[in-house]
Amino acid sequence: MPAFAYRHIKNLYPVFWSKSVEMVKMIEEDLKSRKANGNNDNTVQISNWASRATLDIIGVAGMDHDFDSLRDPENTLNQSYRKIMSSPPLIMKILFVIGMMFGNLTWIHSLPTKRNKDIKQSGEVIRNVARQMIRQKKAKMEDPKAETGIDIISVALSSGTFDEENLVDQSMTFLGAGHETTATALQWAVYALCKNPNVQTRLREEIRANLPSLDDPNPISAAAVDNLPYLNAVCNEVLRFHPSVPMTIRKAVRDTTLADKYIPKDTTFTISPQILNRLEELWGPDANEFNPDRFMGPGKANTGGAVSNYAFLTFLHGPRSCIGQGFAKSELACLIAATVGRFHMEFKFPDAKLEIREGATVSPKDGVLALLTPLEGW
Ligand code: HEM
Repeated sequence: MPAFAYRHIKNLYPVFWSKSVEMVKMIEEDLKSRKANGNNDNTVQISNWASRATLDIIGVAGMDHDFDSLRDPENTLNQSYRKIMSSPPLIMKILFVIGMMFGNLTWIHSLPTKRNKDIKQSGEVIRNVARQMIRQKKAKMEDPKAETGIDIISVALSSGTFDEENLVDQSMTFLGAGHETTATALQWAVYALCKNPNVQTRLREEIRANLPSLDDPNPISAAAVDNLPYLNAVCNEVLRFHPSVPMTIRKAVRDTTLADKYIPKDTTFTISPQILNRLEELWGPDANEFNPDRFMGPGKANTGGAVSNYAFLTFLHGPRSCIGQGFAKSELACLIAATVGRFHMEFKFPDAKLEIREGATVSPKDGVLALLTPLEGW
């Protein structure tokens, strides 16, 4: 918990920012080299860049280790995650629904399918990387002259609460939970900004007027990013309108009652941020419109004017809600700011119907194909 407190997260902004800048500059270099080779196509698939940037960020901020997947997309960790996050085949989706109907999903994972084998193998690769990182960190911390790092593993190791295997499990969780989710949010952000060019322009003006340029070598401060009301509003609206995890599952641990309905112990049921986040009863008649302005104005920066504190369900609520909520919001703000500050963005296929890639997280199937034009003067 202390590793995820704001007083700690605020020290991570320079990591979020420098990786965001690295991503933007690499995209720019790529576009330049295409042009130099006579190729004027400036199409960029956002998902690819987003996943690599967020994997690098969780590596540095979580484990004090740069996986460098932005520069080296073929690295085994990146490839392992791509396999795990790929859309499951139809048969697995059908089995999942059957499993849900019988309230038991564990047997699906033990079937000898190719998908399960791939996931198991990739899981082993990730587990070994996590173990290696923890051992390296432990060795480093044994040196009394070494400074304690600000990454999550350093904070957890100093707490003395975890043995190695437990820490490997914890790392697996935050590496997985903390990278594709934010990458998905960045894809939706670009999607929403292409769809709403006025929002894009207004956001760019705020960013360019208030944040240091991408060439400024000084580390960014948390306050500089947190003090931009429209950036905060756009991030919150993206997270509300397009929650990366649209649905999750819970099981009743005892007989209970929900909205006057009796729920017996062991009932499996779904909770849907996708539905709750757009409910008119909670958000008003424009609930189904993308409108960052709902998060502008006195008292609205965090609530968006919703009538209940529980209306925003993107990170869930309660003891098993997302521990990385603060981390994710700050990280997303930096990624969006650097991207929108530098590029004019529009859809490659403006009239294409939105198709969804399904999985634990959902995002546009084409990975958001956007035309990016670098803008001078910032
Ligand atoms: C936009 C980004 C993110 C979204 C939308 C998101 C959403 C969620 C949701 C909905 C859950 C609950 C899942 C369930 O129980 O069914 C969850 C759990 C979790 N998240 Fe996030 N998350 C995000 C980013 C992050 C980041 C950046 C980290 C870590 C740095 C993180 C770490 C975790 C962990 C460790 C859990 C498990 C908590 C537990 O079971 O007690 N998340 N997240």
